[in-house]
Amino acid sequence: MRIDVVSIFPDYFAPLQLSLVGKAISAGLLHVAVHDLRHWTHDRHHTVDDTPYGGGAGMVMKPEPWGEALDALLSSDDNPDDNRGDGGRDDTALDDTVLVVPTPSGHRFSQPIAQDLSQKSRLIFACGRYEGIDRRVIEHARTRVQVRELSLGDYVLNGGEVATLAMVEAIVRLIPGVIGNPESLSEESHSEGNEGLLEYPVYTKPPLWRGLEVPPVLFSGHHAQIASWRRQQALELTRRRRPDLLPRQD
Ligand code: ADE
Repeated sequence: MRIDVVSIFPDYFAPLQLSLVGKAISAGLLHVAVHDLRHWTHDRHHTVDDTPYGGGAGMVMKPEPWGEALDALLSSDDNPDDNRGDGGRDDTALDDTVLVVPTPSGHRFSQPIAQDLSQKSRLIFACGRYEGIDRRVIEHARTRVQVRELSLGDYVLNGGEVATLAMVEAIVRLIPGVIGNPESLSEESHSEGNEGLLEYPVYTKPPLWRGLEVPPVLFSGHHAQIASWRRQQALELTRRRRPDLLPRQD
């Protein structure tokens, strides 16, 4: 997979070189390119924002730098999947490219969306700041690639950078080969193998720590009993914390 990130704060993305995402890059499973939006400005001050039409507080990101950035990234010259070398447009690769726009007014990002995005050959993250990006940028991009406006949750961040980091991490760990033991993926919270429930509590050695014991069933060696205990725990935790995730009773 190739991931491009466009932001006015490219330094935000240094952590992508660390940990699991960094390893996926070193292993050749992932290519990440971070771009400074100001690269596509032409005035002395590298202006990326302007006042909103219709009035109101805050500033809006200008369409021109975003338009040029997306033109550059979507052109076949910059497209890693286009090996034809004839400078022509490769529609197959664009078919498998998704432009992700993190925004508090987007659809809620979720594990199924992460799963879907992990199967694309290319993702482009457009990190907005201020009051957001001029709407026409998204409308125009939709004529060329699939666009997903996604929110991390019902709170407002200062921009799309932190949301992009979170989404990239959630997506990249689902790329085959990135996680050593893929079984661990199917049991964790929100995963299909776990029926979309929250994950059961986990324990390791020592068996007694600060007067607190590990639940005895986990020492029993009885796989069916352990599985049943874990499912009960997952159901109970989900009922208490996230009843909205429980399967509907009707
Ligand atoms: N940008 C600002 N707030 C955001 C949020 N909650 N999710 C995604 N992107 C954002």
